[in-house]
Amino acid sequence: MPSTESGSFPVGPASPTDAAALATLAALTFPLACPPAVTEDEAAEFAARALSADAFSGYIQNEARRVLIARGAAEPIGYALLVLEPPSDPLIAAALADLPGPVAELSKFYTHPAAHGRGVASALMTSVLQAAEETGAGSLWLGVNGLNLRAQAFYRKSGFSVVGRKQFPLGPHVFDDLVLARTLSPAG
Ligand SMILES: CC(C)(COP(=O)(O)OP(=O)(O)OC[C@H]1O[C@@H](n2cnc3c(N)ncnc32)[C@H](O)[C@@H]1OP(=O)(O)O)[C@@H](O)C(=O)NCCC(=O)NCCS
Repeated sequence: MPSTESGSFPVGPASPTDAAALATLAALTFPLACPPAVTEDEAAEFAARALSADAFSGYIQNEARRVLIARGAAEPIGYALLVLEPPSDPLIAAALADLPGPVAELSKFYTHPAAHGRGVASALMTSVLQAAEETGAGSLWLGVNGLNLRAQAFYRKSGFSVVGRKQFPLGPHVFDDLVLARTLSPAG
């Protein structure tokens, strides 16, 4: 269990040497965002494919991605992935059409269960918004499961509101996720 006692949670860009620790954190935290219909095996299969150390290594080195990490005393206690590309899904693009562009996606946002309710997510979100603004993004959007009420409450207090819906396929399931978005104050 990582220490979150210090009260200080440095957040910054991840480096390639963080990839393995991020994969470990992601395997632990991804199931927490899944609705009850998702089995342990289905969540583990997704994590092994999309949240492996190799996958994180690719995200960290991709110019169109930003990986941010909140560091505990020894291990990462939170991470976020920004995607700096417009959505390819026309349903999402339509939901975002009235927002100032360019739009960036907050594709992943997870904190260790020991860090929930301790301000780590807020510190991570502050860095996410700043990083997105530094790229010149005018808006930030994300998808969240309709049953994930804690995340929805957190995003609401972080300035996001519901702008539409999107489908999220996972194993044999197709979930009807909410699309949330907020405007930014882009640099320059
Ligand atoms: C989403 C997440 C990053 C938020 O971080 P956090 O530290 O839990 O967030 P906070 O405690 O600051 O805020 C959560 C809010 O939801 C509230 N909340 C808790 N359980 C809730 C529930 N079942 N229903 C509604 N609101 C709830 C909390 O009271 C809090 O609101 P408050 O500050 O007004 O009291 C974290 O919970 C997490 O990593 N969850 C698992 C992974 C996940 O779901 N990621 C998002 C994927 S889209």
